[in-house]
Amino acid sequence: MKQNVDTISLSEYADKLEDQQIKELEGKIIARSLIAQLEEGRQPSYKRGKTTPGVHLMMGDDPRLPEMPENPTFMDFVRLRFSIGGQQHLLQSARLAQKAGLPEKIVLACLLHDVAVSGFIRADHGYWGAALIEPYVDEEVSWAIRMHQCCRFFADPDVGYEYPEMYHRMFGEDYQPEPYIVAEYERARKHKWYMTARQICMNDLYSFNPDILVEWDEFEDVLGRGFKQPSEGLGNDNTSASHMWRTLRRPSNAL
Ligand SMILES: [Fe+2]
Ligand SMILES: [Fe+2]
Repeated sequence: MKQNVDTISLSEYADKLEDQQIKELEGKIIARSLIAQLEEGRQPSYKRGKTTPGVHLMMGDDPRLPEMPENPTFMDFVRLRFSIGGQQHLLQSARLAQKAGLPEKIVLACLLHDVAVSGFIRADHGYWGAALIEPYVDEEVSWAIRMHQCCRFFADPDVGYEYPEMYHRMFGEDYQPEPYIVAEYERARKHKWYMTARQICMNDLYSFNPDILVEWDEFEDVLGRGFKQPSEGLGNDNTSASHMWRTLRRPSNAL
């Protein structure tokens, strides 16, 4: 008889899913990351033993995901890992900056500002996004991406930036940024590159227009000049960000 999810415990349900996945993955078990479990509101518990002859933990390429080339470029990751909506958000922000006649460095910063939301992780996305691209772009670009995390929560009337109306709806009328964001903003405000971070916020659409489709071709040159693509491929290049690109390539690796 088919059991309803409500009538079994979450761990039983997880076991059932796992059994099903083993079948689908030709004998491989997916060891789900701590973050993936926490995102589902589950307090992860370490499960002992349970080894089955011939059944191993997933390592290497996950057959459920599109296969990536051996030496992947930034655009390979965009094509094969990034969300479509996220891509349009980046492209439309960059187009806005370009139309405003801003320098190429700022257009690039807008093009990459939410690289973490689109292709890696949402929480603390400015920090993760900056870390992902830091070895490959001008220092000002990654600094500004890191700092747009805090700047977007604070109005700057001198340049016409208001607290985003959408944040009232997204986070509630009485939402207050956390102390680390306030402290970071105070530091960013005094920094020589503050306006670069602020420009990201000013060209951030806080959404994307589903009726407009911007192609990456439009920014091929900006990306080509501003993002130093390693010849060995992202993840194979032994930088401070390589492990993050490898995780994005093979997110189901057990270790
Ligand atoms: Fe952002
Ligand atoms: Fe954004």
